Order: sequence, then C-alpha cells, then structure tokens
Amino acid sequence: MRRMTASGEWRCAAASVPPGSTATFRLECGGRALAGFVVNDAGRYRAYVNRCPHVGTPLDLWPNEFLTEDGGAFVCSTHGALFEPDTGFCTAGPCAGDRLAPLPLTLDGDALVVRCARRPTP
Ligand code: FES
Repeated sequence: MRRMTASGEWRCAAASVPPGSTATFRLECGGRALAGFVVNDAGRYRAYVNRCPHVGTPLDLWPNEFLTEDGGAFVCSTHGALFEPDTGFCTAGPCAGDRLAPLPLTLDGDALVVRCARRPTP
C-alpha cells in the first residue's frame, strides 16, 4: 500500500518497512518534487529528505541503499559521510556536525504517513 496524494502525503504499510530497512518515496511539496526515505530503526520510524547536506546529492547511489553493513548508520554513497538513523546527525565525513532534513512522520493505524515539512526544506 503505497501512494502519493496531491496534498503532499505519502503512505505505506508499516509492515512493509521491517526493522533495519528503509523505503524511498517522493512528495510534492510547495510545487516541488521532493525525494525522501523512511527508516525503521529498531521499531522507531524516521523520515528524511534524501539529500546529503554536503553537496546535495541523494545518499543512495544504489537505490534504497542507505545503511552501513551493520545497520548502525546511514552512509552517503558520494563521499562517505555517516549519519545517525534516529536523528539524521552527521557524525563523520565532510559534513560532520550538520544533519539530514527531517520530515514529519506519523502512524495512522497500520500505515506510516509522511508529509511535507512546515518550513520549506533547503
Ligand atoms: S555528498 Fe554526501 S558526503 Fe559528500
């Protein structure tokens, strides 16, 4: 169950993103297409804009490949920056100290719902 609405909302079945996995999506926010991804970090869901704060490329050169082998961090495929899955904080690499842009995520029954951020994302 994945869909995008004109209002800038993306939904998917929470069960389709098991612990230690990610899923990508696109939203329409303020007339702009925005690529994002969700992660299930040991049962805690987070959503981020798929844009590295270093030079703005997507993190996943290979589609939906965000996590390090041990699943403990996101890794940017361009220059190897590492990010905490639960905060998006960059812990190592050329953008250390910066962070991924979070997106509002809620649970609606068995569905994950991601919406556009209130503030425009950079
Ligand atoms: S673009 Fe991500 S570390 Fe350089």
